[in-house]
Amino acid sequence: MPVFMHAGLKLNYWDEGQGLPVLLLHGFPLTSELFRPQREALSSKYRFIVPDLRGFGRSDVGQGPAEMSTFADDALALLDHLEVETAVVGGVSMGGYVSMALTQLEPSRVRALVLADTRMTADDEPGKARREEVAKAVESRGMNAVVEDQLQKLLAQPPSPQVEERVRHMMLENQPLGTANASRGMGLRPDSSVILARFANPALVVVGERDVITPLPRAEEMMKLLSSARLEVIPGAGHLANYEKPAEFNRVLDAFLSSL
Ligand code: MLT
Repeated sequence: MPVFMHAGLKLNYWDEGQGLPVLLLHGFPLTSELFRPQREALSSKYRFIVPDLRGFGRSDVGQGPAEMSTFADDALALLDHLEVETAVVGGVSMGGYVSMALTQLEPSRVRALVLADTRMTADDEPGKARREEVAKAVESRGMNAVVEDQLQKLLAQPPSPQVEERVRHMMLENQPLGTANASRGMGLRPDSSVILARFANPALVVVGERDVITPLPRAEEMMKLLSSARLEVIPGAGHLANYEKPAEFNRVLDAFLSSL
């Protein structure tokens, strides 16, 4: 896995395939492995650029809360490093928050948006308090403190045992401090509705039919603001639609990318 340096941190990424560049940003508390099904199936047609966000996977951990704009700045630095001027930018859940932050920082570099199982709204006060609880739990007890609870929410129940095991493994690979930083950073994120209302390029909004974290109404809220978007619901999938139902997700992603 190649590495580049940014802001004093070693950040790892996949850069696979040829054609239209597609930057994909993973969710919480996961890694770039989340997009293996897309890289494996579609890299003959598109160039997938997929980082381990700071604090996750093999990338270094930064200091303090990892705000969505900080992850976005890292991702823009990766595009610079690869000399990619514009890309389709997409993410799952927290990766969607980062995609919106990146769109705010440098809208001209976003050829199109893919927002999967995510939402545009900020956390409410109880939600912010839960971010701090998660951060403290992993800091004091390690990743095991949150893994089983996260698995229940991330995957449609009952999950396939193989998918469940691979997602568990992805989470356990992460460092508690990086996870705590991201949890606190998500609690600080602003509402992104203005960013979506201003975005005039094409967008794909995808949601798992059985997503309990960011269900269909969250996707519909984003659809109301985006001027040129299509909505796809993945039957039987939970919050990790791209990983739980890769064939169905890849079909809608491929249809969208090939239409650009
Ligand atoms: C994720 O999958 O990235 C998280 O569910 C996002 C969140 O907790 O808001």
